[in-house]
Amino acid sequence: MVGRGLWSCKSRFGKRNGRFGVMPALCVGITGASLLALLFIDSIELWATSRGMTGFVKGPTQGGLLPQSMPPTRPEEYLLMPSPLVCQRAKPYLIIMVTTAPSNQRARQAIRDTWAGELEVRGKRVLTLFMVGMPANPTMGKLLVVEAREHGDLVQGRFQDTYGNLTLKTLAMLGWVRRFCSQARFVAKVDDDVLFNPPALLRFLDHSQPPLQTPDGQPADLYLGRVHLHVRPDRNPSSKHFMPTQAYAGAVFPDYCSGTAYVLSRPALLKLSLAAAATPLPHPLPPEDVFVGLSAHAAGIIPTHSPLFSGGPAVPYGRCCYQAMVSVHHVMPSEMVRFWADAHTSPPCSWLGTRASLGVCKVRALLGTLIGS
Ligand SMILES: *[C@@H]1O[C@H](CO)[C@@H](O)[C@H](O)[C@H]1NC(C)=O
Repeated sequence: MVGRGLWSCKSRFGKRNGRFGVMPALCVGITGASLLALLFIDSIELWATSRGMTGFVKGPTQGGLLPQSMPPTRPEEYLLMPSPLVCQRAKPYLIIMVTTAPSNQRARQAIRDTWAGELEVRGKRVLTLFMVGMPANPTMGKLLVVEAREHGDLVQGRFQDTYGNLTLKTLAMLGWVRRFCSQARFVAKVDDDVLFNPPALLRFLDHSQPPLQTPDGQPADLYLGRVHLHVRPDRNPSSKHFMPTQAYAGAVFPDYCSGTAYVLSRPALLKLSLAAAATPLPHPLPPEDVFVGLSAHAAGIIPTHSPLFSGGPAVPYGRCCYQAMVSVHHVMPSEMVRFWADAHTSPPCSWLGTRASLGVCKVRALLGTLIGS
């Protein structure tokens, strides 16, 4: 975009008759504007997304989850977990819960070897645990027991670990944090193919707008991530995310944070869990992130968008960009180790370096999505 702008400007300047006319000035203007847009791409994205947000609409216009027959598998029982005192001892400010499938040992190890090793960031403690369900294969179950004993960082809920049960995994995870980790001011839910960046998140929370406290000094609600706007329920019966009108009648879901990575403050977690517990689980279960969004909506919590959460498309590697992003999706275990080592052992990037790198990697991610679709 910028490249082409410069190129056409050069060719204009080359022509004799065009000197200091309207065209060159226009070219310089356009190129300058493109450069500025590139440097402030995240602010533009934030502005555009915030404008598009529905805000809080109460009442039947959005439709709620309708009660359906579903056995009460409130998964509040844990087969494996670290000591119930793990949070009392570690006193984390931020707890990161990584949802992972039993067979993804390599992903878990890559996370332990990289960002989960950040135990103290900007003077605050961080604890990372993994959330799994029950594997179909008993051998895998035994391997999990061994892994839990060795690392002490697995929480296992009492439900089949299947794609269709991801929502149960999230409920189990929220329930565990609510019961066993009241010390944590914030909980982050992160998928195991996400390169998460605790220092970038804590930097964001330190400088957060909106403020993280209510005017009377109480912690405020926060539901932070990449916000998906006006998503329509999938009415195609053969689809993986099929949502029949009997289960959800609204035309669009309330705005919600992408499930790849999102953050909840403690008060938001408590309100959201209450709302989720009051909702009979529909069948089929909605996607995990949609369910969290619906519960947040029912609890009166509005999501906050941050351009530093990557959401869906893969973000091409850039050192300064990866230093700044809070979450990057679609990262393989080997890449995670390589990217983390490169981005986080080198000195911090300059302001301009970060701005330019963020701009370039966002534009490349966008182009990748356009070409891919
Ligand atoms: C979810 O887990 C429950 C409890 O283990 C099980 O009965 C059910 O079949 C699972 N659902 C799916 C869609 O896998």
